[in-house]
Amino acid sequence: MKKNYTKYYKSASILAPFVFMFDGLFTKNKREKISLYNRQKDYNLVSQDLKFLKLHESVTKYLHDATTNWDAYDYGEGYLYQGIKSLKFSGLRDTEARIENMKLKKLVKGKKVLEIGCNSGFLSIELADDAKEIVAFDLNPYLISIAKECSSFAGKRNITFKDCSFSSLDPAETYDVVLSFANHSTYDGKTDQSIVEYFTKCHNSLKKDGLLVFESHPPEHEGKGLEKVCEIIEKNFEITKREILHYGTFLDTARTFILAKKRDL
Ligand SMILES: C[S@@+](CC[C@H](N)C(=O)[O-])C[C@H]1O[C@@H](n2cnc3c(N)ncnc32)[C@H](O)[C@@H]1O
Repeated sequence: MKKNYTKYYKSASILAPFVFMFDGLFTKNKREKISLYNRQKDYNLVSQDLKFLKLHESVTKYLHDATTNWDAYDYGEGYLYQGIKSLKFSGLRDTEARIENMKLKKLVKGKKVLEIGCNSGFLSIELADDAKEIVAFDLNPYLISIAKECSSFAGKRNITFKDCSFSSLDPAETYDVVLSFANHSTYDGKTDQSIVEYFTKCHNSLKKDGLLVFESHPPEHEGKGLEKVCEIIEKNFEITKREILHYGTFLDTARTFILAKKRDL
């Protein structure tokens, strides 16, 4: 079980950044090391600002509750998987760089959007001012609590966050845009759909001519399986763009990005 750092957020602590740095030095896990250094960097930014310190305390508590009560891989390795600069959180993924490189603001402009497996919801929070409305969900209820609290802190009113699985999502509701980022398969053992079922549900969740925005896993996880995934997408959608994007953190770069229009089947 990962260490509980919540106590360091009750009030500013001179010790805390040294604890995070020390623990980072001694862990062999590369992602956990980056997460501890991210925590240290963010702590230095928020420790003198009570409002932000309280938000970071609450997020730290949810993350710790998740490590003790949620039996699945922790994508953030003790801290956040996604970062969001406006809320002073650093993550293993660079949310602003993702939005810029995938040109997401333009793609969601004025649209009704569904985000699958939204994690802590930071992509949706950053897209809320451009989209008409967003429904974002994740199976992990602790991440959804973080998403709700951060969204309310940021004053976003057009996002509905739900803790549920994709398979249990209301099939009657349809969207203009579906965001499928690193979710078509997951290595946390919690996905109960096959890849075919997953993209059928993406297809059914879209309105006529709706847009699927897809991001793969990193190449080392996706491997040769990506071609099979693309074949399945192609059956349900017309692929209008496919490229490999190089930007951001070591976890952002070299993923395949696809835009695909819903087929009339
Ligand atoms: C690799 S992370 C990607 C997170 C986010 N889409 C992103 O790209 O930043 C996968 C996320 O999917 C969630 N997840 C896994 N299986 C799911 C399911 N069946 N339904 C909804 N969310 C799921 C996990 O809890 C995790 O937050």
